[in-house]
Amino acid sequence: MHSKLLLMKKYFAPGPILYLTAAVLFCIPLSKAVAQDKTETAKMNAFVSGLMKKMTVDEKIGQLNLVTGGMAITGSVTNNGISDGVKKGAIGGIFGLYGTEKVRQMQEAAVKGSRLHIPLIFGLDVIHGHRTIFPIPLGMSATWDLGIIEHAAHIAAKEATAEGLNWVFSPMVDIARDARWGRISEGSGEDPYLGGKVAAAMVRGYQGTSLKNADAVMACVKHFALYGAAEAGREYNTVDMSRVAMYNYYLPPYKAALDAGAGSFMSSFNVVDGVPATTNKWLLTDLLRTQWGFKGFVVSDYTSLNETVDHGMGNLQTVSALALKAGLDMDMVGEGFLKTLKTSLQQGKVTQADIDLACRRVLEAKYKLGLFDNPYKSLDQQREKTEIMTDANRKSARVTAEHSFVLLKNANQILPLKKSGGSIALVGPLADNKRDMLGTWVIGGEWEKSVSVIEGIKHVVGDNVKINYAKGSNITDDTTFMKRLNFGPGMVSLDKQSPEDMIEDAVKAAKKSDIIVAVVGESQSMSGESSSRSDINIPESQKNMLKALAKLGKPIVIVLFNGRPLTLTWENDNAAAILDVWAPGTEAGNAIAEVLFGNYNPSGKLTTTFPRSVGQIPLYYNHLNTGRPYSSGPTKFKSNYLDISNDPLYPFGYGLSYTNFSYSNLKLSKTKLKGNETLTATVTVTNNGSYAGEEVVQLYIGDPAASISRPVKELKDFKKVNLQVGEKQDVTFNITPKQLKFYNSQLKYDWEPGDFVIQVGTNSADTKTARVQWVK
Ligand code: NOJ
Repeated sequence: MHSKLLLMKKYFAPGPILYLTAAVLFCIPLSKAVAQDKTETAKMNAFVSGLMKKMTVDEKIGQLNLVTGGMAITGSVTNNGISDGVKKGAIGGIFGLYGTEKVRQMQEAAVKGSRLHIPLIFGLDVIHGHRTIFPIPLGMSATWDLGIIEHAAHIAAKEATAEGLNWVFSPMVDIARDARWGRISEGSGEDPYLGGKVAAAMVRGYQGTSLKNADAVMACVKHFALYGAAEAGREYNTVDMSRVAMYNYYLPPYKAALDAGAGSFMSSFNVVDGVPATTNKWLLTDLLRTQWGFKGFVVSDYTSLNETVDHGMGNLQTVSALALKAGLDMDMVGEGFLKTLKTSLQQGKVTQADIDLACRRVLEAKYKLGLFDNPYKSLDQQREKTEIMTDANRKSARVTAEHSFVLLKNANQILPLKKSGGSIALVGPLADNKRDMLGTWVIGGEWEKSVSVIEGIKHVVGDNVKINYAKGSNITDDTTFMKRLNFGPGMVSLDKQSPEDMIEDAVKAAKKSDIIVAVVGESQSMSGESSSRSDINIPESQKNMLKALAKLGKPIVIVLFNGRPLTLTWENDNAAAILDVWAPGTEAGNAIAEVLFGNYNPSGKLTTTFPRSVGQIPLYYNHLNTGRPYSSGPTKFKSNYLDISNDPLYPFGYGLSYTNFSYSNLKLSKTKLKGNETLTATVTVTNNGSYAGEEVVQLYIGDPAASISRPVKELKDFKKVNLQVGEKQDVTFNITPKQLKFYNSQLKYDWEPGDFVIQVGTNSADTKTARVQWVK
């Protein structure tokens, strides 16, 4: 391959648009890059066509069947013994199975035992790390650091391939505006622009420079589409929205992942325009393939094909035929394709061409992964021993976690804590706890290997600070809630002590100490799949402890674990400081201690709005104006509530630092622009506090008059700067009409001339503002 093209592939996952961009960047004649791409594709087509000529209908249908290996069960299991199925050619891939020995056994059954020796594809839910667990995705997005995120995905890919995997069910790019929905923890929050950037970074990290590399996995973008908009935040619930909202606010991250070269998509459980995503032709073909040009394959979610029977689409045979015709290529777990497609073919309900197309796409994915050249490429026992949970991987997980923490409050600069002298009461059910450090979706993660908060503090301050520990409360005392939480590894149990005695112990520890550090919030299983909550407070048991401690009048620092925004008005009023650590992963305790004691100055910013009350949901910064806009103060006949303000407790983009950053002097290069001109907006950011630190400078644009009502503001760019004490920096954004574009009511993507409000600031609610006029 042309050396420049190789270099280009190093930085860009192949995809038509990126080939184009990269060819321009690296001055390779575009015709040559395209020609090389075409040759590769022609080779693949010839190979797959040759293979398919030899395949029976049953073998083709077998390629569309994905079964579980049993290590990740999130619904009912309907497949029978898998080894026989593999040998018969009735299985195209296995997910939920890893480890070189187990994977090799199955791959050998396929390659040596099946008639045509077609390798299997091996997938897994590697969501925020495989063995070394990184912060949950919502936390990772709070770094606003695409390099860190890409690297985390790359480490996950390295560890996953070291255990025989070649496909990960990530990134999860569903935009979510509802904190009740437990899976908000698995995505990047509420913003389509940031969500798209994160999605693309993850795809690059997973797929690397070539899917054929030994350490690359194919990404699977999920859940297509709109899964994050489930009504009432209730898992698996109905979604209903206008096309304008879809195109402008919900679809961009899926598209960004596709443009970054993602090899596969997963259909979602919900309906889109009344039709379940898994049988939705408009979604899986017209939009995904015809409009967007997707060339990979689509897998269903776990039994989501069978579930369309309950959605009211017909019986299993009908829905399987519908799904195939809609553009679904692989059926996860439910065996709808396996059991019915042949009959449907005989009855003329699907055509041979329908089956061939899906089969071709699955085989192409295997080809792109290099599995036909070497089906055992990820089965290196040496790598399995040396590349998992390495010191370097753990260090990356720690650094990522440190960058993901968001400082929500820090009255009187109570943080960072002193590294020497004095005493701390360390209390709360998450303080001496390894199990809940990892967060949701940790199939390969071993909680025993995670660092608890108490261990992390000991590592960082040793005996220089006296620690008085007391558990203080259970995660929850509500036994019904607890039963629901006790699925999988996130076990919650009641302590032998009574809640009153536990609180008493915490109070005693606090009385002996100068300061209280309370490690509280949600346990691992309180967020993630099937973990919706109608009450998003810190559970009552923990709140009772906090209330008893607050009576002592000593400063309380809350270290908050959460897989979603929580309602924290009491905590905000009563704690001196709140450090949101999400679920930080394997290195949790070390990362928390580094930040609490000032070895790292927090720089994370919220990617999801924190409401004051669950009744305000959905609450998001990029909302439309109403005809009766809210203004603070009790006003009748405005779009507001009688009992609470409209404002969030913490807005999108919000996050404090141990230092102080001030913004001044927003300068625009012009205030009147025409056509494709570029506007530059420059702001001066000064570190006028007493610590070096990083700040995420955010650019928002508002479009106050257009053919459709537009959001009050939208994030359009951001830059992370690192400033020493006293240092100031001019931060410049280049703005072009591309950033002004939106989908109008005809779904035409363009910008409309008029006034625009340019805002630059430290979060979505605190910006410097200027206006420009931009004509065509
Ligand atoms: C169901 C979940 O919705 C999806 O995200 C996951 O990838 C599959 N189960 C496989 O575990």
